[in-house]
Amino acid sequence: MATFASSVIHQLAYPSLLLIISILALAAFRRLNRKRVTAAMPPGTLGLPFVGETLRLIKAYRTEDPEPFADERMRRHGGRLFTTHLFGERTVFSADPEFNRVVLGGEGRIFEGSYPSSMSTLLGRHSLVLMKGALHKRMHSLTLTRFASPAVIRSHLLPDIDRVVRRNLRSWPASLRLLDQAKKITFELTVEQLISQGPGEWTENLRHYYNFLIDGFFSVPLPSFLSFTTYGRAIKARKKVAEALMELVRRRKEEKMGESVVESAAEAERSKKKDMVDELLVAEEGFTEEEMVDFLLALFVAGHETTPTIMTLAAKFLADNPSALVLLKKEQNEIRRKKTDEFEALDWKDYKSMPFTQCVINETLRFANIIGGVFRRAIADVHFKGYTIPKGCKVFASFRAVHLDSHYYEEARTFNPWRWLNHNNNVSKDGGQEAGGAPIFTPFGGGQRLCPGYELGRVEISVFLHYLVTCFSWEVAEKDKLVFFPTTRMLKGYPIHVRRHHSL
Ligand code: HEM
Ligand SMILES: *[C@@H]1O[C@H](CO)[C@@H](O)[C@H](O)[C@H]1NC(C)=O
Ligand SMILES: *[C@@H]1O[C@H](CO)[C@@H](O)[C@H](O)[C@H]1NC(C)=O
Repeated sequence: MATFASSVIHQLAYPSLLLIISILALAAFRRLNRKRVTAAMPPGTLGLPFVGETLRLIKAYRTEDPEPFADERMRRHGGRLFTTHLFGERTVFSADPEFNRVVLGGEGRIFEGSYPSSMSTLLGRHSLVLMKGALHKRMHSLTLTRFASPAVIRSHLLPDIDRVVRRNLRSWPASLRLLDQAKKITFELTVEQLISQGPGEWTENLRHYYNFLIDGFFSVPLPSFLSFTTYGRAIKARKKVAEALMELVRRRKEEKMGESVVESAAEAERSKKKDMVDELLVAEEGFTEEEMVDFLLALFVAGHETTPTIMTLAAKFLADNPSALVLLKKEQNEIRRKKTDEFEALDWKDYKSMPFTQCVINETLRFANIIGGVFRRAIADVHFKGYTIPKGCKVFASFRAVHLDSHYYEEARTFNPWRWLNHNNNVSKDGGQEAGGAPIFTPFGGGQRLCPGYELGRVEISVFLHYLVTCFSWEVAEKDKLVFFPTTRMLKGYPIHVRRHHSL
């Protein structure tokens, strides 16, 4: 979730103002303090004292070129592992899939998640991304059962997704920003899946505050009494969202206790179709109310900030690659044509018969890299290919640098969904899946923190694309630009004109 917690971006946005102030102060001392990288660490330069290479990183990602920072340093140091200095800390930057595997797989043993404190304030102490150890394991597996099991997706989630996507697209105006519309859809979906709330005033209200909360992730945190700042406003919004969720959790808890012997018809109906709150309330370990609220909030952020961006970018890349759009449209029209009833919902079988659409989604994930990589901290000395990464050292495992490396993907900087058609050969080029036994395609991370939404996100994007291409055509309304800072996205949210060809 570039957008979400772990991405490079949050960590970029967070200290930028402080850095600008300090660079002025520190420029004068520049020459006094040229630090060296310890011999056994990967090669590198640390840049300016304190500020390090942060500003260069930010500057690089502000361009339309997706990977200039890593490109330049890999060339200079002659390897995929180098040391740099980011956000006030010496950081090992990895563009090496084998090292990334060690990082992801070593969670809890030799590495642990490491996030700035401004983020934990917004997410809450108990949020999944900040959790460690046993509690994290339990919450993570709960999320996996809830969102990644094909049985649950097939019977509960997919029908909801179909309904919500359709309901939204039906009321589309002729001109819109695709990102805004995609966000509205995923928000409504998340609210249904987590807390069984339909659209309406309550949900709109929550969305209003939620949007302020999200802004906070991309702002510079000043003390919260400066409440006119984005961050201050986000802190306030967090309180509102948390209150609303807390109220809901309490109400549901009371209902649960009252239900005892006689189960009402409504209860019986709902117990067939449990949401996340039900799941948390019946969990044996008994979570506290605060834990439940933080957990729900983190799920909101995680699911809502990633999927809509991929939906939007997939549409943009398709529009830029007409032959891919033609093929995807053909595949989706075929599925629609087979339906006896014109308005019949998509089912699991349909989802499983969209091979080219899955190629487009993979290629969008690879090419756009909305989560550029993850930050971790070494909790033991780590030895790798002759280097030693000392205990306490920060590490950035870059997915983007691997996904855009021409050693692993032929013409890596070109959007080419066809490369995924022959993904079964595991040679390292052209859709190959691994290098030295390590996966090279890791848009959802891996190891103990593997994204529990990996399948759900795909299903949502697939259903969205289905109705987009079978019912509409679109053209760009305003020139827009793909940027990589502070998050990967279309600068204006991709403004388009849509024309409806088919009712839905
Ligand atoms: C295309 C969409 C998505 C992408 C690219 C994505 C990517 C990722 C990545 C890379 C991580 C690992 C972070 C780390 O290792 O620090 C992650 C974690 C997570 N994702 Fe997603 N995600 C997506 C959609 C979703 C959805 C729809 C949900 C909702 C269920 C979700 C829930 C989570 C959660 C809860 C975590 C934290 C897991 C943990 O730390 O144990 N994600 N995601
Ligand atoms: C897409 O990527 C996933 C890994 O995230 C892989 O398992 C799947 O086979 C890929 N799909 C295609 C069509 O190559
Ligand atoms: C993948 O590569 C490994 C060796 O790296 C080989 O043993 C295996 O048979 C290959 N699999 C396929 C499907 O080509």
